Amino acid sequence: MKRVLVTGGAGFVGSNFIRMMAAHHPDWRIINLDALTYAGSTDNLKGLSGDYAFVRGDIADSACVTALFGQYAFDYVVNFAAETHVDRSIASPQDFIRTDVLGTHTLLEAVREQGVARYVQISTDEVYGSVAAGAFAEDSPLRPSSPYAASKAAGGLVVQSFYRTYGTPVVVTRSSNNYGPWQYPEKIIPLSITNAIDDQALPMYGDGLNVRDWLHVEDNCAAIDLVLHRGEVGEVYNIGGGQEATNLAVTEAILARLHKDRGLIRFVADRPGHDRRYAVTCDKLKALGWTPSVAFAEGLARTVDWYIAHSEWWRRIKSGEWRAYYARHYAELEEPRT
Ligand code: NAD
Ligand code: DAU
Repeated sequence: MKRVLVTGGAGFVGSNFIRMMAAHHPDWRIINLDALTYAGSTDNLKGLSGDYAFVRGDIADSACVTALFGQYAFDYVVNFAAETHVDRSIASPQDFIRTDVLGTHTLLEAVREQGVARYVQISTDEVYGSVAAGAFAEDSPLRPSSPYAASKAAGGLVVQSFYRTYGTPVVVTRSSNNYGPWQYPEKIIPLSITNAIDDQALPMYGDGLNVRDWLHVEDNCAAIDLVLHRGEVGEVYNIGGGQEATNLAVTEAILARLHKDRGLIRFVADRPGHDRRYAVTCDKLKALGWTPSVAFAEGLARTVDWYIAHSEWWRRIKSGEWRAYYARHYAELEEPRT
């Protein structure tokens, strides 16, 4: 039996990871530590069976983290907990620095004290910044653009420093854009799907030609499971879907699946510091035996269908904190365009 601490497991990727691990590793005891910010909900794990416990708590609260590590002798720690939305980081960076940097450090101190077998830091391809052509490898320089990306880069560097300084057995993943079920409808794919279902405008930043590399969340979770078991300690692993698309192409595919009109796309002011294109090489991960299994067209169609079938879930979110955020962030959508 392995005792596994998953932080941020009530969010999008973390909840998918817990579901998958509960199925793949029935011998695991999974403890989910999550602060339940606006982005997290225990609804995301409803119906989960197996040896699973939820603890509400903040990874930056050292008393909470120390008490938890005192209660369980963890074998593995997988740190998903983070503030994750670029636009929110631009409006207000403070929570990002607190959770993504200080929270990561708080966890690492507990890990160092207790001596776990493996700590996995979930990071992002955004730490490399934009790439006009080609793709970034794990040893490419870090040039984060947004406060979100900078906080993830800083947290990840603290993780690597613990390996070099104390020999803490860490692995860092840097994945590209995930999509799939249970994603909070502030990110472009679930926002576009749910707005389109309700015949609301789909906000498109700039010229809509920014490129992201789409990775189905299940492929990301399988990669994380692999590096947890077979990744080399101290190493960084990129995880990319190898499926690049412009934002316009993604929203057009969503509209086509829903039989909605392209006229729903509404061009709005660009995101400050908006990275044009992300791309990473995944040779290190592929050498361990991983390859993405979900083709983007098929995964996107499945995702649209999932949101149609789970409208109760996202309508509850959209009737809460989301509304004030949306009104604030997309105020210009309300204004008449000349
Ligand atoms: P999310 O915003 O859906 O979920 C984040 C979760 O962390 C929420 O449940 C939230 O309540 C929890 N959380 C936030 N602050 C916390 C704190 N101080 N203590 C404990 N819990 C806290 O995010 P996501 O999209 O699932 O991303 C998960 C991780 O994966 C993040 O580290 C993110 O940087 C990384 N990542 C995400 C993507 C993506 O496309 N979604 C891509 C690359 C990397
Ligand atoms: O690359 C990995 C990263 O992907 C993760 O680390 C982040 O946590 C995750 O949020 C995501 O960041 P992005 O900024 O790429 O995701 P987002 O969905 O916010 O935006 C995707 C693209 O769509 C980006 O070019 C901005 C654009 N966009 C986004 C929104 C919310 C729009 O045009 N309109 C919008 O309303």
